[in-house]
Amino acid sequence: MDIFDKIDKSMGPLGIWGDKVEGYFMFPKLEGEISNRMMFRGKERLVWSLNNYLGLANHPEVRKADAEAATQFGMAAPMGARMMSGQTKYHEQFEREAAEFEKKEAAFLLNFGYQGMLSIIDTLTDRKDVIVYDAESHACILDGMRLSLAKRFTYPHNDMNKLEICLQRAQRIVEKTGGGILVITEGVFGMSGSLGNLKGIAELKKKYNFRFLIDDAHGFGCMGANGRGTSEHFNVMDEVDIYFATFAKSMAGIGGFFASTKRVVDYLRFNMRSQIYAKSLPMPMTIGAIKRLELIRTKPELREKLWTIVNALQRGLTDIGINIGITKSPVTPVVLNGTEVAAINLAHDLRENYNIFCSIVVYPVIPKGQIILRLIPTAVHTLDDVKYTVNAFKAIKSKLDSGEYDCQALANLKEV
Ligand SMILES: Cc1ncc(COP(=O)(O)O)c(C=O)c1O
Repeated sequence: MDIFDKIDKSMGPLGIWGDKVEGYFMFPKLEGEISNRMMFRGKERLVWSLNNYLGLANHPEVRKADAEAATQFGMAAPMGARMMSGQTKYHEQFEREAAEFEKKEAAFLLNFGYQGMLSIIDTLTDRKDVIVYDAESHACILDGMRLSLAKRFTYPHNDMNKLEICLQRAQRIVEKTGGGILVITEGVFGMSGSLGNLKGIAELKKKYNFRFLIDDAHGFGCMGANGRGTSEHFNVMDEVDIYFATFAKSMAGIGGFFASTKRVVDYLRFNMRSQIYAKSLPMPMTIGAIKRLELIRTKPELREKLWTIVNALQRGLTDIGINIGITKSPVTPVVLNGTEVAAINLAHDLRENYNIFCSIVVYPVIPKGQIILRLIPTAVHTLDDVKYTVNAFKAIKSKLDSGEYDCQALANLKEV
C-alpha cells in the first residue's frame, strides 16, 4: 500500500468539488484592485466575498503606508523569530497601541491568526486542565485543542444551560487534578454571523472559576461603538481574559494579535511555539497594521458606512422573503433549500448572468439539501450595489423554487 493510494479514492470533502469546473468554484481567481467590483474570468463582477469590512484593503493611506514600508525595509525584514533577531520598535509600537485600544495591559503581535490561536490554546493548557468551547468554533480553535492535552467539553452553539453543565463537570475534574478551566468562543461566528453569547458567559464567571478567551476575527473593527470588537458591543471587555483577533478581516492584512494582562502576555510570548520557531511578521505588514489600527481608531465613518450597507442589504433580503438566519453582524448568509446540482447551476447563473460573485457553501460543509450563499458587505459597497443584488436574489430564488436549476444539465458547466 502506497501512502498516496488514498488520493485515488477521494480528493477529500472539498476536493470533490474541484473537478466540477476547474477553478470556478474552488480556487476561483478574482483579479484587479480589491474593491466592490473585480474581474472574474475576464468580466467585471459585483463582489460580496471579501472580508474587507471597512474597505481598508485599498484605502489610499493604507496603500501608501504599505508601499513606503516595503520601499524602506523590503519584504525580508526583520530576519528571524521575534525572540532571536526579529524584534523591532514597530512590532512593539503595534503591541502598545493594540493593548491600549483593547483596554488591556499588554498585547502580542502574531505572524498568523490561525497558528496564533492554535498556539495560545496549546501553550496555556495541559493535561490537568479542561477546555469548554462552543460547538461552532472555528477550525483554529478545534486544531488548537487537538494539540493540547487538556480534557475538553463542547456545548451547543450559545446554549448557556449546557455550558453551565459543562462547567460543573469541568469543575469536578479540576478539583481532582489541580488544573484550571478555559472557556473559548468566537465574538462573531464567520459562517452564520451569529454573535457569541459573551454576556451569558461573562455572567457565569460570577459562579464558576474559569478564564475566558474569545476569537473575534470577524468582530474586531466592526463591532462595538469604537470598533473594539464584540466584547465592546456587549460591554464585557473586562470579563474577557484574552482577546484575540486576526488581521485577515477588518484590518485587511496578514497577522493577528491578542491582548491580556502583562503576566499572561509575557508567559505566552516566551512559550508559544508558533511564534518562537517561526519568522517575525514582515515590516510592511507590521507598519501597515499600525496604520490600519490608526484608521479604525480615528475614522468611525468607515464603520458607519459599513453598517449602512449591512442594514440595507439585510433589510432588503428579508423584505423579499429571504432567510438570512440568525446574523447580528455584517456577515450575511442567504439560506436556501436545494440540491447540489441546483446549487451549482444557481451559482453559475448568479456569476455569469447577474455578474455577482459571492461564496457558496454546500454539503458536506452544511447539511444535504441546503445551499448557503455568504455575502460580506463592506464600506466600499454602495446602496445601488445593494439594490441590484436584492433584485438579483429575488430572481434566482424564484428560479430555484420553480425547479429551474434542477433541470439544467450540469455537464454544460464543464465548458464555462
Ligand atoms: C474565526 C477565525 N479565527 C481565525 C482565523 C485565522 O486567521 P488568519 O487568516 O489570520 O490565519 C480566521 C480566518 O481568517 C477566522 O475566521
